Amino acid sequence: MPIRVAVPKEIYPGERRVALVPEVSQKMAKLDIEVLVETGAGNAAHYPDAAFASARIVNDAASLYGEADIVLTVQPPTPELVEQLREGSILIGMLLPYQRLQHVTRLRERNITSFAMELVPRISRAQSMDALSSQAAAAGYKAVIMAAERSGRFFPMLTTAAGTIRPSKVVVIGAGVAGLQAIATARRLGAMVEGYDVRAATKEQVESLGARFIDIKVAAEGTGGYARELTEDEKQQQQATLAEHIAAANVVICTAALPGRPSPMIITTAMVDSMKPGAVIIDLAAEGGGNCELTRAGEEVLHNGISIVGPLNVPSMLAVHASEMYAKNLFNFLSPMIRDGTVLPDWEDPVFAESVLTHQGEIRHAPTRAQVEGESS
Ligand code: NAI
Repeated sequence: MPIRVAVPKEIYPGERRVALVPEVSQKMAKLDIEVLVETGAGNAAHYPDAAFASARIVNDAASLYGEADIVLTVQPPTPELVEQLREGSILIGMLLPYQRLQHVTRLRERNITSFAMELVPRISRAQSMDALSSQAAAAGYKAVIMAAERSGRFFPMLTTAAGTIRPSKVVVIGAGVAGLQAIATARRLGAMVEGYDVRAATKEQVESLGARFIDIKVAAEGTGGYARELTEDEKQQQQATLAEHIAAANVVICTAALPGRPSPMIITTAMVDSMKPGAVIIDLAAEGGGNCELTRAGEEVLHNGISIVGPLNVPSMLAVHASEMYAKNLFNFLSPMIRDGTVLPDWEDPVFAESVLTHQGEIRHAPTRAQVEGESS
């Protein structure tokens, strides 16, 4: 019997992405995988059922899960969905392990092997599976487009018969994957861009994209290539240096994040007050509390003529390409697991060992296990 991979329609409110696109579905067929797609799963991302030529379209979620050996999702499953998964089957998606402890418990109890794509280690070999990066790149790009739409200004310098227009000044805070993509996009649109991060390694990356690096002389490298939280003194130093750059900016894109923690608060209300009317802040860190004191997650706040936008699920706004990249990440993750027609992850491989959340009735991801045990004791 072929391995059956099922792709449900995402039901999380506002989610437009889908875990599989037709191009990747064809590649799976070549691996002798039977692909089952729930009716309409790709519609919101403009991949109609008919485009999944080699897949079987299944009408209801219950029979989809009933048949599946492996289920691919974008968002974590709802509690009802967890109950419908076949015992012993495999679930792969962005499972938000730290935030969905109840689901994790049920996945364990139902003997589901679940992999959280967020936990795939960020090693060179696993770059093609790195869903955090692919989705962050989409968000960084879209943030700049959102800012350009809201701004009453051109981004590029324009020399016209009506005079010369000065380029917009864009400040990007946090130069990780999203921030670097935001810098590149703002540069492509012709803006004058400044980038800032607390990790020293980012200076070169920011400059290589044609932006200026704002150096606040604080290096805050943490573990695993991420930043650490700043001390109070460092925060003050950061705010003092950043203040003049923020005041001069027409657009600020915020992307600063700390793994597993609330996002650092960097732009105070006083700093927003110093900005020019018509300036726009797009706070991609809104989901984790935001980098600006005035950010409201999921809302657009107008404060003295300055827009502070706290968008949620930005990759979903770019559903076609965000789905395509995500589907490729999943394929690159899944295909090495399939050996001689069976699903056999190599548990010695850190890619699988670190991303597995539940397996054989256990929570394998130690921090999540500790959290679940902490809650139940
Ligand atoms: P992220 O989304 O967790 O954070 C975004 C950025 O915010 C980071 O660059 C961080 O340094 C910065 N930040 C945190 N606190 C800040 C503060 N107070 N002020 C200013 N900036 C602050 O990070 P992301 O984009 O998911 O990844 C960052 C790390 O992961 C980097 O080290 C990157 O090189 C590494 N990475 C490695 C990959 C690989 O080798 N496969 C692939 C992608 C990323």
